[in-house]
This record gives sequence, structure tokens and C-alpha cells, in this order.
Amino acid sequence: MHALLEELGSAASAALVKAFGAEGVPPTLVFEPSPRADVQCTAAMQLAKALRKPPRDLAAAILPSVLSHPAVEKAEMAGAGFINVTLRDAWIATHLDDCLTHRPVGAGQTVVLDYSSPNVAKPMHIGHIRSTILGEAMKRVLRAVGYTVVADNHLGDWGTQFGKLIVGWRRYLDRAAYERDPVGELLRIYVKYTEEERAQKQALGAPVKEGDDDDAALPAQAPALLLEARAELVKLQAGDPENVALWKQFVDVSMAEFDRVYKRLGVSFDEVLGESFYNDQLAATVDELLEKGIAEHSQGAVIVTFTKERDGEAMPPMLVRKADGGFLYGTSDIAAMRYRIGRWSPSRILIVTDERQQLHFRQLFAVARRLGVPARLEHVWFGLMRLPEGTFSTRDGNVISLESLLDEAEKRAADVARSLNADLAEAELAEVARVVGLGSVKYNDLSKDRQTLITFTWDKALSLQGNTAPYVQYAYARIRSIQRKVAELGAVPGPLVALEPTERALVMTLLRYPLAVEEVAMSSRPHALCDYLFELAGAFSSFFNDCPVKDAEPSVRAARLTLCDRVATVLRRGLDLLGIEVVERM
Ligand code: ARG
Repeated sequence: MHALLEELGSAASAALVKAFGAEGVPPTLVFEPSPRADVQCTAAMQLAKALRKPPRDLAAAILPSVLSHPAVEKAEMAGAGFINVTLRDAWIATHLDDCLTHRPVGAGQTVVLDYSSPNVAKPMHIGHIRSTILGEAMKRVLRAVGYTVVADNHLGDWGTQFGKLIVGWRRYLDRAAYERDPVGELLRIYVKYTEEERAQKQALGAPVKEGDDDDAALPAQAPALLLEARAELVKLQAGDPENVALWKQFVDVSMAEFDRVYKRLGVSFDEVLGESFYNDQLAATVDELLEKGIAEHSQGAVIVTFTKERDGEAMPPMLVRKADGGFLYGTSDIAAMRYRIGRWSPSRILIVTDERQQLHFRQLFAVARRLGVPARLEHVWFGLMRLPEGTFSTRDGNVISLESLLDEAEKRAADVARSLNADLAEAELAEVARVVGLGSVKYNDLSKDRQTLITFTWDKALSLQGNTAPYVQYAYARIRSIQRKVAELGAVPGPLVALEPTERALVMTLLRYPLAVEEVAMSSRPHALCDYLFELAGAFSSFFNDCPVKDAEPSVRAARLTLCDRVATVLRRGLDLLGIEVVERM
């Protein structure tokens, strides 16, 4: 399909050059599949202004070049200057297998993909889960189109919270609880610490705001607990063996828990370079910013300022070194940027987080541009997911609740599976429940435009109707069952023959698969692939309603078996790119 679109595009461009001269004519015009025709070109409208010609005149000049292509059955001008192309059935039939190959648009290029990145000893909130699922899908999609992808889990394993945790550990630890549920207990002592610190602050008459951090200077009025936490943090940063050992333990128990979740979700990373990895590069990073005149001193601290003229937009300053010499989240992000560019020379860096960090990354990318970073930098942000009451049964939003969410998904998916097929044996049912349950949680995240707010509901996520994992997975299982039945008759797949209308529509849909994947790779919006798979499953349904497979005469049956096979393959591969599995029977 790609090759054809490119051929039509360059032939059309050549036709325009011949008619009106080369000026303003791009080397290729865009032809794309469209719901109105097999292929459509809207370039005439887009170029009209630059070429100072009525769009219909341009379209008329293009038309003969399209008509003369051997794949084209018919090409017509419509409306303001659209060119609608109908392809020859014979071309379509012989190009079916184009649906199985991607154009290697990323070949020779590296992408650093920073996703999941939860914070150690803190709740892995729902945002980290969405980042994990979106990031994993992007990893697979980018690899499919030829990119070398470095999947990097930028763990939040450094920062002021560790001083607090160490104090909490010394004062409030319940050993037995820690043995049972280490991360749960770390969370509890952290929360306890925060409450106590807050109470001390109030007793001192200091204002307490929501999300109050210790970054604000409180010299005279600092609560005793906070002073203690700062002292522990200083010791940790200075390499005090006891505190370093504690810190390491916090990281290890948290990582063990994260890994359990990753394993269950089928997620894997190439690197886990957390914030701590950059710790010894922070001083040099700030020095470099100062030397290059990117950062400046301000009231004892070091900041970067942003102006509309230089950075494209005015933004609040970014603090990169505090007055007390401490570094920040943003400083380690600048260090990570330098490191990634130096080590992998990526052409793109993608960072997946929720919407609340948009300003942070706009600032970071502005700093990177001033440092001369040549890569395309993308903050792949997503809206926060709303959870109706009761979706999570235990501690809100943390790792444990994710596991209970997945348990619940599997339980509910088992009911769905039973309703579809009461004859499944227990072991098979459990596998269907696992695959469908996990799939529906993931698909629910992936199928909505990531920048819209979504609400999670079980009924929608697990519905067998609509754009859901169970719908697409069921379409796959149904095709596999058809294939098994027909194979029992000894039939084998064969070349496509004359195409019925729904059959033709199905092949055209299949041919769009590599385009859908490429679109996701370029736009970092996986929902386009969900939309595509949903459409493909629907096109299969229409085909199957109209076109018998098992009872067709042998050559037609063989052709339809081939079609079944390609649809099943594309559904399976497409779901796999989203990190979702299939089952052979449902
Ligand atoms: N740990 C951060 C958080 O939980 C996300 C890190 C994202 N990646 C980055 N390079 N800053 O909010």
C-alpha cells in the first residue's frame, strides 16, 4: 500500500510540474486511504493558494497521471478538487500480503523511551500504571517500524523523601508488618511521618498548605522532625553507610514489588536508571549550565529563566540548585538528557507521564534546546484517569491495589468467558480470564485519546460490544474456530479470487494496518491502533455475515481461508503491539 501511495504521489507531483512548473510543488503529493474512496488525494486544495490556481484546475492536471497507474481502476474529481481513486480488484487481491510488513521508517534511528518511572517507597499511583501501559505499547510499536528503542525506567529513587523515610523507619517501624508487606509498611511510616511533621508545624504556628514541601525555607520555625529528616538526608548524600544501606533496602523492596507488577503486565525495560544514577553528575550539570550562560545565580540558588523571544514562551524559572546546595528533580532530568544524548545519540526522546508535569517538561526541553540537543523531544502526557468509588478495594492507587484491580478484572473476565462458552475446562477458563481481564484493563487505557479524561468502569472495559479488548479478542478466537472447522474438512488456504463487496472492503482494511502502526509510531497516540483493530474486527464480521467460508465452493473457500488467516494474524499482531495477548478459543 505504501509503495502504491508513494508512486501515485510522485506521479501526481510530476504531472503538476509539467503543467505549471516546479515552483511550489512538493516532490510527492499525499494520497491516503479514505472512507470515501479506496484512496483519496486532497493536495489540489492545499496547493491552490501557493500555486495561485483554482483547485479543480490542479486536480484536472493530476488526474491523468493517476489514471495511467496500472493499479487504478477509476479516478474522479469530486467537490472542490478531491481526487477519489478506485483500485483494481486484481491489484488488491495480489497485494494482500502487504498487510504483513511494515515500512522501516525508524531504521538506523534510536528512541529513548522513558516510562513507568514510579517513586520508590511511595504509592505507585494510577498515573504510573497508565504510563507503564502506554509506554510499553509505544516501545513495541516503535520497534515494529524499525527503531532501536531504549526502554528506560527513570525510577524516582532519590530525593528529600528519603530523609523522611529514614526518620520514619527509626521511629515508627513495625517489624512484623514490614516482613509481611514491606512497601505497605514503608508507605505507612511515610504517612505517619508526614502527619507528625504537620502536627509539629501547626504547633509552631507555621502555615500548613496542601502538598507543602520542605523546599520552602523555614529556618527559625522548622519542626524538629523536619530538621532530623534533613540531617539524615545530608548523611545519606554524604555516603553514611547505615543510611545508604537503608536507602538501598527501600529501593530493593520497592523494585521487587514493581517487578511483580511488570511481570504480570508483560512489561520489560532495557535500563532502570533511576534519579540516583545521575546523582554524581548533578554538580557538573549545573556548572555547565552556568558556564554556558543558560543558568544564573539568584538569591543564593541557581535558576534558569525563560523568555518568549528566546524560548518561544515565557515560563516561570526552573530551580536547578537550591540555596542550601541541594539539587532537584529537574536537575536530574537535565543530567539524564545529557547522558542519554551522549550514550545513545537518539533521534527522539519520549517521556511518558501524566498531564501534571507539562510545565516541567516544557522547561526541560527549552533547556535542552539551549544546550543544543538535536533530538526530537516529546512529552507524551496523558489525562488522569478517574476511578468511580469502589474500583480499588484496598489502599487507593498503590501497587497493591493495582494487583487487586487485576485480580478483579480476571474474576469478572471469567464470568464473561463462562457466558460465552460454558464448556471450557477450568484451566482453559482461567487462562481466558487472565488474558481477557488483563487485556481489558490495558485496552481501556490505550483506546482513549490519551489527552482526554477517562473514567474507568468495569462494564465498559469488559463489554463484548464496542471498542474493547474482549470484542477484538473474541473476533480473533472466532476466526480461529472457523479455521479449525474448515481445516477438519481438509481445506487449505489458496489465492484470492473474485471479491464480494464486503470481502473487498475487508482486504482494503487489512492493507491499512501498516499505515495505522506507522501513525502511532509517529504521533505517539496508540488509540489509533485500537480504533483500527476495532474497525478490522467489524469488517470481518460484515464479511463473515455475507460470505460463507465453510460452505463455499472449494476455490472460494480456499481464498476465504487465506483472508481469515490474514485477519487473525493482523489482530494478533496488532494486539501484541499494544501488549495484549489472545486466546485460541473463547
Ligand atoms: N518519578 C516521576 C513521577 O512519579 C516520573 C518520572 C518521569 N520521567 C522523568 N524523566 N522525569 O512523577
